[in-house]
Amino acid sequence: MTTTVIKGDLLYEGKAKKVYATDNPDLIIQEFKDDATAFNAQKKGQIVGKGIINNDLSSHLFTYLESFGIATHFVSKLSEREMLCKRLDILKIEVVTRNIAAGSLVKRYGFTEGEALRYPIIELYLKNDALGDPLINDDHAVLLGLGTPDDIARLKQLASKINGVMQDYFLQKGLKLVDFKLEFGRHHGAILLGDEISPDTCRLWDKDTDTKLDKDRFRFDLGNVEDAYREVRKRLIG
Ligand code: TMP
Ligand code: ASP
Repeated sequence: MTTTVIKGDLLYEGKAKKVYATDNPDLIIQEFKDDATAFNAQKKGQIVGKGIINNDLSSHLFTYLESFGIATHFVSKLSEREMLCKRLDILKIEVVTRNIAAGSLVKRYGFTEGEALRYPIIELYLKNDALGDPLINDDHAVLLGLGTPDDIARLKQLASKINGVMQDYFLQKGLKLVDFKLEFGRHHGAILLGDEISPDTCRLWDKDTDTKLDKDRFRFDLGNVEDAYREVRKRLIG
């Protein structure tokens, strides 16, 4: 596919990325920002250089997943902060997969942080900031018109496969994949993995020390936020 495109109008500005049209109706450009938010944007800040690192890491991980037959929206990395992607009709569902208890799993159900789950669990959240992205089940998803029962089953199957591939890969790089969030969308009928995969959307802990190397350092003011993002890039890409 050609990667010579002309950047068009700003289509959408999210919390961490801007999305631009291109002269090809099938392609968009996502531009990674340094802005960081947490707790549904109640906490706001900047992580200097994050946009560049998250573009590097997402480009790397999408390419890696594609090599395992997982279809993603990734086309090519265009510049430090820009990624060329297939245009998606985003499914309004956030798919969270968990291997180790942390975050809202601990808060909501009383698991102990760091406890290895006997098997990975997959959760669905409604992508709706006004409602605070509530946890939903398959029935809610279907009744809300987010997809058919087959679509929902497919999202979970894809999340499970992606988890297997990424868990092994991160472990080879000295990182535990604690949990992560994925978004999917439709492109000419096919369901593709979209959005990004980065320390903004994954919890990553050092395999030996459990040091947190992800956005939790920003969420909970743990310090050395930029260093953590740089460390993940160093371990994955060099
Ligand atoms: P949680 O424990 O806060 O539910 O988060 C689970 C995973 O999803 C964690 O890796 C962070 C990621 N995540 C996002 O990418 N975006 C979000 O808005 C939230 C709440 C979590
Ligand atoms: N990105 C989300 C927000 O600001 C939350 C998070 O990642 O913790 O709202």
